[in-house]
Amino acid sequence: MILPIYLYGQPVLRKATDEIEPNEIDVKQLVADMQETLTAAEGCGLAAPQVGKSIRLFIVDASDLEEDYPECVGLKKTFINPEIIEESEETISYPEGCLSLPGISENVVRPRTITITYQDEDFNEHTETYTDFAARIIQHEYDHLEAHVFTDRISPIRRQFVKGKLTNIAKGKVGARYRVKR
Ligand code: NI
Repeated sequence: MILPIYLYGQPVLRKATDEIEPNEIDVKQLVADMQETLTAAEGCGLAAPQVGKSIRLFIVDASDLEEDYPECVGLKKTFINPEIIEESEETISYPEGCLSLPGISENVVRPRTITITYQDEDFNEHTETYTDFAARIIQHEYDHLEAHVFTDRISPIRRQFVKGKLTNIAKGKVGARYRVKR
């Protein structure tokens, strides 16, 4: 089932998220719905708060981007109860967008490489290291679990520049080619 994507201004995007216990919710059904939602919206990542659920889960599907970003080969995964345990000192600036902030794209500076621990849909533990665009997508989605959106991380001058656009999104004055909750 395609779920509506909650837009900037919805309080759930600014709430601290809860850890998920095994069998607490139907994780597989939620992930299936989120994957369908992400594919329909043509995005590469989606976090649970973006579909109105204040829990620590996000999905990434960068399998379409493999040609341009070889570090994304096979990157179609669910991250449950993730924790970024290491970040490189080296950073990269690169443009980002977000399905919850339609029409905005801004450069964001982030660590180039990260190491993350998480559980998969069967609650098996993993520790993995990602770099470049793969690390960027994961950090962007992880931010959603920490009640952040990417415009929190842009320069003060650029934030001033997008302020009006953000206000319009929060007021529901924005179009999107996918199903949204304003
Ligand atoms: Ni986002």
